[in-house]
Order: sequence, then structure tokens, then C-alpha cells
Amino acid sequence: MRVLSVKNYEELSKAAARYMGAQLTLKPDSVIGLATGSTPVGMYKELIRMNQSGEIDFSEVISVNLDEYKGLAGDHPQSYRYFMNDNLFKHVNIFADNTYLPDGQIEDDQQACQDYDDVIDCVGPIDMQLLGIGHNGHIGFNEPADAFTTGTQCITLDERTRQANARFFAGDMSQVPAKAYTMGIGSIMKAKKILLVVTGADKAEILDKALNGPVTPSVPASILQLHPDVMVIADEAALGI
Ligand code: F6R
Repeated sequence: MRVLSVKNYEELSKAAARYMGAQLTLKPDSVIGLATGSTPVGMYKELIRMNQSGEIDFSEVISVNLDEYKGLAGDHPQSYRYFMNDNLFKHVNIFADNTYLPDGQIEDDQQACQDYDDVIDCVGPIDMQLLGIGHNGHIGFNEPADAFTTGTQCITLDERTRQANARFFAGDMSQVPAKAYTMGIGSIMKAKKILLVVTGADKAEILDKALNGPVTPSVPASILQLHPDVMVIADEAALGI
């Protein structure tokens, strides 16, 4: 595991975009695993700039996202499909048909999970998986549990996760879906490379546990210690510097 310490969020966004950009330069038909949340927004802006200036090309890229709220349609402004379209896909030359997220509208959990596992099997292996980390150590929406997950799961979101995400729903917790579909930890660990981006002092404690604590499903991100190729890009606040 390599840890790159950067000064602040702006530097983090640029460094992470450069890292993913290098992947696309080396392998233009990369399969990239993408994440939502606040942390990658600056990185996505930088990737858009790099694409529009001709530095990187998405025309052969396939993307698979980590997660989607159960019950939200892709055109719901809080859905992760909407987020990805808005923050990245519609601004770069990726083909919409090459972008995958779990389908939040499938009612039947088993069906939704099987369908997404089939997608991952079909397009994979993932060349580079981007991750953020939740305050409870979740990656994707794999919340702390008694065991690590394997394939795609339908999970009940932690109260803390729902509270953290209420900011996207005008602060109204009642609007935050109770469940989500998420890529499992087994699938995340099969990615050839992992890029974890972390910003802010509020993540310092959990980042330290994930990087230096015991590997335990009660801190899902701690499993990354066992992956052979993880790059952590974190700002000084998140590293407690
Ligand atoms: C989002 C995801 C989550 C976030 C995590 C951190 O697709 O998989 O695990 O990465 O909740 O979110 P932010 O970046 O908003 O702190």
C-alpha cells in the first residue's frame, strides 16, 4: 500500500485525476470502477478538464460504479446515476452505454444483485477501482458487519451513513432511502488496482484505523491492507498531519 500525502483538497483532486489519467493513457480501454460522494467531485472536474483539453480519452473506457440507492430511478436528482451523469459522464467522451451502475429500480434484491454481478463478470476485471471511505469505514456501501461481503449486496444503510448523506436531500433524513445496492468487497478486492481518496480531519480517525488497525469487517476498508496494489491519496488533514 502506498500513501501519497498532499496538502489540501485541490491537490488531492489533481493528483487523483493524474493517477487515473495515467491509467487511461497506458490502457485506453480500461475498465474503471467509480464512486460517488463529495470526495471525488474535484477529481472528476479535473478529469473533465483533462478530457476536454485532449490529454485523456474516454472513448474506449467502460465504467462500473460502486453503488446505487434502492428505489431511486436514474433521473432522480439524488440517484447515483444522476450524480455520475452530472459530475462526469455528460462532460467527457465516454459512451453512455459503457457506463454501469446497479439498477435501483429493481424491486427484487436477489435479481438486482445477480444482474450487477453479471455485469461485473462480463466487463471485468476492473483495472482501477476508485474508493472513498465512510466515517464508519464503509467502502461502497459495505457497512461494518460480522463478515466481509463477497458479491453485490442489498444493504440497509447505517443511521450515520444516512445522516451524512442527508445533506444531498436538503437535510431531510426522511427522504434518504433506507437501502442501497452495493458492489461487494470481494468484487472490489478483485480490481487490479485500487485508488482510495480521503480528505478532511473528520476522516483522520477512521483512515488511521483502516490503514493501521486490525483487518476486520467492523472496519470494512481495513481489508485494503491485503490488496497488492492500493494507492491512498489523502490530504494532510485526513492524515492527521
Ligand atoms: C459512494 C461510496 C461511498 C463514499 C463514502 C464517502 O459511491 O461508495 O463509500 O465513497 O461514503 O463519501 P464522501 O466522499 O461523501 O465522504
